Amino acid sequence: MAEFITERKRTHYCGSLSAQDIGKEVVLMGWAHRRRDHGGVIFVDLRDREGIVQIVFNPDTNPGVHANAHAIRSEFVLAVAGTVRKRPEGMENPALKTGKIEVLVNDLKILNEAKTPPFPLDEDSDTAESVRLKYRYIDLRRPPIQQNLIFRSNVAAETRQFFRQAGFIEVETPVLTKSTPEGARDYLVPSRVNKGMFYALPQSPQIFKQLLMVSGFDRYYQIVRCFRDEDLRADRQPEFTQIDVEMSFIAEDDIIRIVELLMQHIFKTCLNRELSLPFPQLTYHDAMNRYGKDNPDVRFGMELRDLTDIVRNSGFKLFQETVATGGVLKAVKVEDGKKLSRKDLDDLRDYAGTYGAKGLAWARLTADGWTSPIFKFLTAEEVRRINETMEAKEGDLILFVADSPAVVHASLGNLRIHLAKILNILKPNQLAFTWVTEFPLMEYSETEKRYVSTHHPFTSPVQTDIPLLESDPGKVRARAYDLVLNGSEIGGGSIRIHEQRVQAMIFKALGLNEKETRTKFGFLLDALEYGTPPHGGIAFGLDRLIMIMTNTESIRDVIAFPKTQKATCPLTDAPSEVTFEQLLELSLKIVQ
Ligand code: AMO
Ligand code: AMP
Repeated sequence: MAEFITERKRTHYCGSLSAQDIGKEVVLMGWAHRRRDHGGVIFVDLRDREGIVQIVFNPDTNPGVHANAHAIRSEFVLAVAGTVRKRPEGMENPALKTGKIEVLVNDLKILNEAKTPPFPLDEDSDTAESVRLKYRYIDLRRPPIQQNLIFRSNVAAETRQFFRQAGFIEVETPVLTKSTPEGARDYLVPSRVNKGMFYALPQSPQIFKQLLMVSGFDRYYQIVRCFRDEDLRADRQPEFTQIDVEMSFIAEDDIIRIVELLMQHIFKTCLNRELSLPFPQLTYHDAMNRYGKDNPDVRFGMELRDLTDIVRNSGFKLFQETVATGGVLKAVKVEDGKKLSRKDLDDLRDYAGTYGAKGLAWARLTADGWTSPIFKFLTAEEVRRINETMEAKEGDLILFVADSPAVVHASLGNLRIHLAKILNILKPNQLAFTWVTEFPLMEYSETEKRYVSTHHPFTSPVQTDIPLLESDPGKVRARAYDLVLNGSEIGGGSIRIHEQRVQAMIFKALGLNEKETRTKFGFLLDALEYGTPPHGGIAFGLDRLIMIMTNTESIRDVIAFPKTQKATCPLTDAPSEVTFEQLLELSLKIVQ
């Protein structure tokens, strides 16, 4: 076996061969993707990371080699030498990059055999994910996943290239550290030498990157693993990767500019897509009002319209009472709503119900005027004003929710996205970036009975809002910004507090006492007193960005070894029990 490898070196990747190589002698190594016997001639699709090429074993030209080829099964590892030739007329495969050519084999070495794989490696494998993750090394042979990871590597490389050119310094920050303030639960690591003590894995390098600004690094970035013990979703993993950035002597527009240039660079170099700058900006307030979400998908319209004033004194009790108790009435307009049947409307009502809506009223504008189960309760003037606000045309369907602003925004905001999917109104490959700015600095938490930071407690308030910190903390706007792409939050950051005095006011408004803040962040507070420059930054979810760039539904398909929804790894069986001795060494006891 060794001879082939030591004597003959691979000359090409399977997938890199093309018509230009016709006539060349090549040496290829890879896996048998598929084998077909065609009346004597044996065809094998040979696969490596660059793709697939058809190799041919002909009994007439090479009887010995052909005889050996009978043993080839799926996923055997092969080394072959042969000649590239044009496929015979009519035998081309346009679906394959190498479909115009094939390699006539004159030497074969089976480098290794393989058990029958637990699932086929065809593109649309519908194998259960738990099985795919258990045999992840085989799953990772599937060309689409391999392409995702190769693409990811390109994006990371281009990101480094961009930051290096822009004068940023990559600094590694600790993984064994102390609790970092991003609001999720920490993963804890017990210390053996300091019994009863724990490290926390970083939820982000937030504090360290701020300390690096105090130290004068001025422009920092890092592609860095972060850990958050939170409920998982299709776009969340317990460990994920951030592109993390911090800059000194800057304001919001500087961060926004550098990030836009970064996006322009990676979309150009990795996808050959031109982005036009600057990206649009929306305040948090406008994003909520118009889209019902702080991560609005602005690829399509169907914006929420506010009808509250129209029904404030309405005879229709449902609407009038909702408004009288602080609620609002909003609606979205579905153009050409004829496509939606009564049954669809019931489904949409149930869908809105999952976000708390108590009902979903509707109205259609037909050639004969409005049809609606509720318009009979409204005056002609009210209907006229609704019509005017919604700018309704014949065929349009209006969907209404009356409730607290939170329920109206959540139900209509998500309904809008849901409608775009079921009505298929999104164009493929459309990219819509938007910045969302001026987030509230803090929100009241009913469970904690105090204000909590919307982002993290080092976020700077808008200067003119500082007096509100004492009177009305919920109204204070933050100097924070998120970058949203196609309705997904891909990055977020802020200008930080660089004055100890302001930081102390924030902690006070958050109801954190001095002792607590000292134990948690004392080292950062101290640092603020030793000459801290004005600074700010942002972090991107690299995994989410790659998902969107590769059009992938699940975050797990852009990570080599991801965790399941239950934060387990079926491949390694992590997390797992440890021995009694290990626990003893750490002075730990499991309490059931
Ligand atoms: P934030 O918490 O908004 O900010 O995180 C930044 C970005 O990281 C991504 N992200 C995740 N991706 C996958 N799985 C997760 N569990 C997960 N959690 C977050 C999101 C998000 O936009 N230190 C601050 C940044 C700063 O202020 O500079 C921070 O971590 O795409
Ligand atoms: P009902 O009188 O409960 O049958 O409701 C009449 C119509 O109003 C139905 O189409 C309900 O789905 C709708 N509806 C009920 N509650 C609300 C609400 N809070 N917001 C919007 N529509 C509602």
